Amino acid sequence: MSIIKACIFDLDGVIVDTAVYHYKAWKRLANEMGFDLTVEQNEKLKGVSRTRSLELILQWGGITKTPEEQEVLAAKKNDWYVDMISHMTPDEILPGAKEFVIACRVAGLKTALGSASKNSGTILEKVGIVGLFDAVIDGNKVSKPKPDPEVFLAAAAELNIAPGNCVVFEDAIAGVEAAKNGGMKAVGIGSPDVLGEADLVVSGLNDMSLAKLYML
Ligand code: G6P
Ligand code: MG
Repeated sequence: MSIIKACIFDLDGVIVDTAVYHYKAWKRLANEMGFDLTVEQNEKLKGVSRTRSLELILQWGGITKTPEEQEVLAAKKNDWYVDMISHMTPDEILPGAKEFVIACRVAGLKTALGSASKNSGTILEKVGIVGLFDAVIDGNKVSKPKPDPEVFLAAAAELNIAPGNCVVFEDAIAGVEAAKNGGMKAVGIGSPDVLGEADLVVSGLNDMSLAKLYML
């Protein structure tokens, strides 16, 4: 009998690929301030909160801003980002993601979303998967950034499942660490070179199965 009773999914990079929109918006902001943002730098922003992302970008550009100015800049970036995600369609769900979440539910497992994003509600609605999760915990409900396990522990609590019976699916190093810090199993989505701390690494949810889940 497997100990797995719930699957908790990160959103960006696991269910949908919004990194490209975050990148476009941050790049536009950086360009307005007179510098550029590389794809490599954008990688470092995956799973990182909006506020912390801006701090890093300003640091890379060698620019100092007051907390008030930072708030204005973050809001500006978010307006551009929200404009882009408001045009998302169900086609943008990553391959196999919807199918795997449904397979978990059919198998009697609980499902939750555990994301740092404050825009998860809009994204779930636009890609048409609001009803797929028994609990949705996002940046509006928690404040401690990954690798703090707060977001995943809150999801487990809402599902009423012990952390030891949960598996987290994550594409960010900090997310895998957050799962482990919360006493949960972690499946990394991406490359084993990057996500070595995970219990299992797959290239995407299209490469995941209930058989692999029950072997964790
Ligand atoms: C996810 C993404 C990050 C993003 C964060 C906050 O973790 O991977 O790139 O900065 O969510 O998203 P938000 O939509 O609230 O700005
Ligand atoms: Mg992610």
